[in-house]
Amino acid sequence: MNLFIHNTRPYGEGDPVDVVVSDGVITELGAGLTAPEGAETIDADGLVLLPGFVDLHVHLREPGGEESETIETGSRAAALGGFTAVFAMPNTDPVADNAVVVEYVHRRGAEVGLVDVHPVGAVTVGLEGAKLAELGTMAQSAANVRMFSDDGRCVNDPLIMRRALEYASALDVVIAQHAEDHRLTAGAQANEGVVASRLGLAGWPATAEETVVARDCALAREARAALHVCHVSSQRTIDVLRAAKEAGVRVSAEVTPHHLLLTDAALTSYDPVNKVNPPLRTAADTKAMRAALAEGVIDVVATDHAPHAAQYKDTEWAAAKPGMLGLQTALSVLVHTMVEPGLLDWRGVARVLSERPAEITGLPDQGRPIAVGEPATFALVDPEAQWTVRGAALASKASNTPYEGMRLPGVVVATVLRGRVTARDGQVRNG
Ligand code: DOR
Ligand code: ZN
Repeated sequence: MNLFIHNTRPYGEGDPVDVVVSDGVITELGAGLTAPEGAETIDADGLVLLPGFVDLHVHLREPGGEESETIETGSRAAALGGFTAVFAMPNTDPVADNAVVVEYVHRRGAEVGLVDVHPVGAVTVGLEGAKLAELGTMAQSAANVRMFSDDGRCVNDPLIMRRALEYASALDVVIAQHAEDHRLTAGAQANEGVVASRLGLAGWPATAEETVVARDCALAREARAALHVCHVSSQRTIDVLRAAKEAGVRVSAEVTPHHLLLTDAALTSYDPVNKVNPPLRTAADTKAMRAALAEGVIDVVATDHAPHAAQYKDTEWAAAKPGMLGLQTALSVLVHTMVEPGLLDWRGVARVLSERPAEITGLPDQGRPIAVGEPATFALVDPEAQWTVRGAALASKASNTPYEGMRLPGVVVATVLRGRVTARDGQVRNG
């Protein structure tokens, strides 16, 4: 199936051009081209063309958590959000700590066919932090695992972390750390600070993140391994990352859309939709996250898309599970927090949502330049349009969005994966 995109501006730059796609590849790019016979045409006047988005951090819940999300519903949300590849975290039931489970997730993702689903393998058996999982077997399996993480939990034991990084270096894969010293966060319910004290919630100190990141950078340096820091939330962590990068440590970092926009001020409603791990922090922290993303100290935006069925969220604060939806709102939150204030242009959006995540994980055909001969893998965005978020209308099985009722800028008009339209005008296109 051929595709013709008429009058779009790649990276929001220059005069509008036409894009001709055949057999999944860009074959022509320029002004005044003719649509090939029988090609689907997208009139893209005023729309920005970007490489398809790559999310290094999602929870698709399958196997075992299908009441909250499945690989199919999560893939639909991803396609509608402009994503063409996602990394699915292993905190499922059973845990993705072996070749059988990662191959299942990979195969199911391919069957659904809306987005490339890359399973993340667990670092330790059962996410228990005690015994290394068989990283090599997962890396060499049909799922070709590129990234390992115990996300949801921290690999707290320094010796286990050291060994994991040594294997990662040998296997040329990435260890993604959920940086949280569990000794410092025992019982924690909110960012340690004024708001938590006022609400009587036990605090999660920023130092629990900062100290683990500092330790892991030292371990990664020694092992010459690639370390990725999940969902950076605190200002101080930025300083540690900057110093490590300057010293040549192979470390990359992500920030979530919610840590760019929301603060612990939202907690005064006691609505568990705002409960997330790491917790929402202060306005000074969100400001520091934005600056670090603009500067490149934080490499990428990753959603930590964490669907939870109503029974896990419609409960009192302490009992509710942490996490919030992210796939369909990521672009809009990024436009609101970074593009509109002039901290990032569309080139920058392509860098943090597509190019850098593909580079970090070594994906050969994602995050590629928009040029002749390259894969036709795109997100087509209307930068002027706005929409109102309604959890019930999102494609996820769960509806735990913290942006309910908010009006946000930036609408994903179409998503294209290797020449195939996976979503258009808010509708998913089934394979
Ligand atoms: O808020 C979170 N939710 N943080 C995590 O680390 C895990 C995730 C989940 O699995 O729900
Ligand atoms: Zn996490």
